[in-house]
Amino acid sequence: MSALILDGKKLSAEIVAGVAVEVSARVQQSLTVPALAVIQVGEDPASSVYVRNKRQACERAGIRSLMYALPAAVTQSELLALVGTLNHNTLVHGILVQLPLPAHIDAATVLERIHPNKDVDGFHPCNIGRLAVRMPDLRSCTPYGVMRLLALAHADMKGLHAVVVGASNHVGRPMGLELLLAGCTVTTCHRFTRDLAEQVAKADILVVAVGRPGLVRGEWIKPGATVIDVGINRLADGRLCGDVEFDVASARAAWITPVPGGVGPMTVAILMENTLRAARKADMALTEEELAE
Ligand code: GUN
Repeated sequence: MSALILDGKKLSAEIVAGVAVEVSARVQQSLTVPALAVIQVGEDPASSVYVRNKRQACERAGIRSLMYALPAAVTQSELLALVGTLNHNTLVHGILVQLPLPAHIDAATVLERIHPNKDVDGFHPCNIGRLAVRMPDLRSCTPYGVMRLLALAHADMKGLHAVVVGASNHVGRPMGLELLLAGCTVTTCHRFTRDLAEQVAKADILVVAVGRPGLVRGEWIKPGATVIDVGINRLADGRLCGDVEFDVASARAAWITPVPGGVGPMTVAILMENTLRAARKADMALTEEELAE
């Protein structure tokens, strides 16, 4: 068997084009153009690539992007002050602080300072909490992007056994919540999991988000499974690869994501949808204010 490819590049382009249509409709109705503020601290080369991709997607979606490039030595209080200013700026609908941050800044404190209605990354405890209680609003971009890819392979995921490898705050944990919301039976594996191969072999849907090349061996995959590889690792020879041994896995799986061109572009596409959603939330807040007058 050779797995069918879940093409994130193609689906993400469709999603971004859909956002562009909605943004044009807003302009026709004299509503504000959605605006995304991107904060990058320092000049980590990988972060610069991600930030450039996000700004290019904004251009394609018709979203205004505002760039804040801060020096690596910026203090936490200066960064928090900028987030506070952007929280109050009604012309800014989404705020994204690119991670990782330098070691002297506590990322959790900064992310929590972003107003939940402007948290287009979907990282704020309020937004993860909403997902946990089946009231999703701004959803974490990578996990929700994975759900959109999975929908191409599974019209209904109820009762499927989903195994998530990796329990990070930004991918693994919200990923488990998304799959639970879709009716899957979910197992999350992490550093203390005793027999990873045994857990992986039970997966109808496998999502791997660790950041270690070849962590999941192809021979562990259940025949006919759907395999989503969130890992993006750069090898010594410069090539990119995921966390799953692709060649062997794709001979066993029914569906698989490539790296690159699988999950990565979906994260950016959902960021565009979230920014549009945040702009709509701001419209509604204004209407409520008018009604209260
Ligand atoms: N660094 C790597 N991926 C991401 C992401 O999706 N959002 C943010 N804010 N930082 C990242």
